[in-house]
Amino acid sequence: MTDWKNAPRLFIPGPVNVLSEVLEQMARPTLGHRSKEYSQLHGETVDMLKKMLYTEQHVFLSTSSASGVWEGSVRNCVALDETVLCTMCGAFSDKYADVARSCGRKVDELKVEWGMPITADMIDEKLSAGNYAAVTMVYNETSTGVTNPVYEISEMLKEKHPDVLVFVDAVSGMVGLPLHFDKLGWDVVFASVQKAFALPPGLAVFAVSERALEKSKSVPDRGYYFDFQNFAKSAQKNQTPTTPAVPHIMALHYQCTRLLEEGMDNVWARHKKMAEFVQAWALRNFELFASAEYASNTLTTVKNTRGINVAEVINAIHQKHNTIFGNGYGKLKEQTFRIAHMGDITIDDLKELLGWIDEEIK
Ligand SMILES: Cc1ncc(COP(=O)(O)O)c(C=O)c1O
Repeated sequence: MTDWKNAPRLFIPGPVNVLSEVLEQMARPTLGHRSKEYSQLHGETVDMLKKMLYTEQHVFLSTSSASGVWEGSVRNCVALDETVLCTMCGAFSDKYADVARSCGRKVDELKVEWGMPITADMIDEKLSAGNYAAVTMVYNETSTGVTNPVYEISEMLKEKHPDVLVFVDAVSGMVGLPLHFDKLGWDVVFASVQKAFALPPGLAVFAVSERALEKSKSVPDRGYYFDFQNFAKSAQKNQTPTTPAVPHIMALHYQCTRLLEEGMDNVWARHKKMAEFVQAWALRNFELFASAEYASNTLTTVKNTRGINVAEVINAIHQKHNTIFGNGYGKLKEQTFRIAHMGDITIDDLKELLGWIDEEIK
């Protein structure tokens, strides 16, 4: 039987490794979620997140993974007779389109080959030729290791399509990559905490613009659990609509405090350094799956140009060192493998892992 009590060190692109001091935060005595103490914890956490996301608009905590906010963004801000443009460049951006369709919304697709980014020109061309209420993007495509040029895209959107709402999945980007929500003019952005926040899975963080919140008032059938109006109403009391994962929020408070002490510019630079280190190794030994200019700072998807048996290497390192990294995602399994370099992972950790991979493949 697998010994889950001797859990391996994780270099998969989520969940990532969690420091024991962070886990300790989750073992504190719990609080009633309508208590004064909880409101203080919630309020302080949201205030810190606003600083980290560079926003003065709404930040909410959802006791779900980020997939819930895929659904929430669409159900709250796109009416049934409106169309959403879904940009698709890998497994997760593809899923965002599936979610929109499963919510009964009309979806138009903008697809590129996996490994390639979505560009501002592509989106401009599509939006100029149709009538869209919203556009979905994935900041950092966790399957391909591509970071989309969201700053350029956002400049274009603000200038040419200011009425189109912008929903951004930043699940593996938030914290690890620059994110200035208000300046970018985004309407919804979200992440799960098991990526660059380096917490165990089970909570999502999301920001909503004033205009998206206003629009949601007029959209019927928003559902219950992810109704933005309910989140906004509860936020006035520094609370959540339903019982939140209080231990998670304690640990999130701890992580936000650490990240702000470090300073977001330094946090982003640290991620970039780790990415450069892993990319250099990948280029010496294999190739990058992502086109180089767009290779991610939070994970590297390595093209398996040497035809190694990825599952066997992962298994060997697991057995010998109680450490695992990621196989390729979905159809990219064995053709690629993925190494996370986000959250509290360090260059020393990565040196150790890459050394073990070198041993196995020599
Ligand atoms: C880019 C991206 N979007 C969405 C998801 C789904 O997140 P969750 O499983 O936490 O809901 C993931 C998960 O890895 C992801 O990487």
